[in-house]
Amino acid sequence: MSVAAMTGPAPLLSVQDFRLEFDTFDGVYKAIDGIGFDLAPGESLGIVGETGCGKSVTAKSVMGLLPSPPARVRGGRILFDGEDLLRVGERRMRAIRGNEIAMIFQDPMTYLNPVFSIGTQLVDVILAHQRARPRAERMTRERARDHAVEMLRRVHLPNPERQLDSYPYQLSGGMRQRVLIAMALSGRPRLLIADEPTTALDVTIQAQILDLIGELRRDLGLSVVMITHDLGVVASVCDRVVVMYAGQIVEDAPVARLFDHPAHPYTRGLLAAVPHPGRPAASLSSIPGSLPNLLDPPAGCRFHGRCPLAGDDCLRPPPTTAVADGHRVACWRAMEAADAGA
Ligand SMILES: Nc1ncnc2c1ncn2[C@@H]1O[C@H](COP(=O)(O)OP(=O)(O)O)[C@@H](O)[C@H]1O
Ligand SMILES: [Mg+2]
Repeated sequence: MSVAAMTGPAPLLSVQDFRLEFDTFDGVYKAIDGIGFDLAPGESLGIVGETGCGKSVTAKSVMGLLPSPPARVRGGRILFDGEDLLRVGERRMRAIRGNEIAMIFQDPMTYLNPVFSIGTQLVDVILAHQRARPRAERMTRERARDHAVEMLRRVHLPNPERQLDSYPYQLSGGMRQRVLIAMALSGRPRLLIADEPTTALDVTIQAQILDLIGELRRDLGLSVVMITHDLGVVASVCDRVVVMYAGQIVEDAPVARLFDHPAHPYTRGLLAAVPHPGRPAASLSSIPGSLPNLLDPPAGCRFHGRCPLAGDDCLRPPPTTAVADGHRVACWRAMEAADAGA
């Protein structure tokens, strides 16, 4: 354990050696294979990786939202404030969801009911959160309505009082995402998990939503897990980032460190695919090949089939090594990759 880990604040969220499988018609899909990361109170952590690498499965596991079957936890712990979410049971999980940990998603329309007004839905969510509280502390419907207006104001929805009567279809995509954020934060959670919250939005609206999340994080002392396939999003909102590949974490580093000294060949590939101002689009590279099939995961490093540096040793599972303070990488070639990137 590093000195920082021994002396820093206890993590708010600590995922430890977590493993999860899905039973499918074709066999057992080993979706998450021994991932681990910590999130300090107030910290913003990015989880990045290509589509299909296990980001949403990880988020839903923290929220207890994966139905079992087909999902099956094969090991590990997900500690929230010291409490193992994998073992608390559905009743306690319902109290934690919304009141302690909240989540927002890519497509707000999926989570808004088209036939009820924004106000009705927001008030219902606020009242639902009250059930986890002692009777004397619960809000009345009138107070919940005031709280709804206050939340809409916090997410900078124009004319919040009037908007209570709007229906989801009357709002733009960005406004709907603001409403979802208001709902997510209405129970005053300590942790917000945002799963590709801006992927479906125009670039300018994306930036506004990311700014809003940053502002709420500062004002409310929120911790944030930002899930994205876009390293640009990570650069603008995260303190630290973990890189996932095929159900594993291949690299974990402070954001600036990851951009300046990426150590895993996969991370380097992802960074090469990020567009830069001034660089012609034709030179954009993406990583050749595709994610391995986790019904039958490749032996050793799961990236070796696509890795420009792979050799025979990569057929054995790579060790996780610390290449700098707070910077871990799981790769036999980490040093070579870091040197090559100088
Ligand atoms: N209910 C399920 N049954 C079988 N496989 C699933 C299920 N949910 C997700 N998966 C698989 O797990 C892998 C990771 O999915 P996901 O976490 O959604 O990826 P992403 O990183 O894009 O969010 C994918 O290959 C997906 O097909
Ligand atoms: Mg996803």
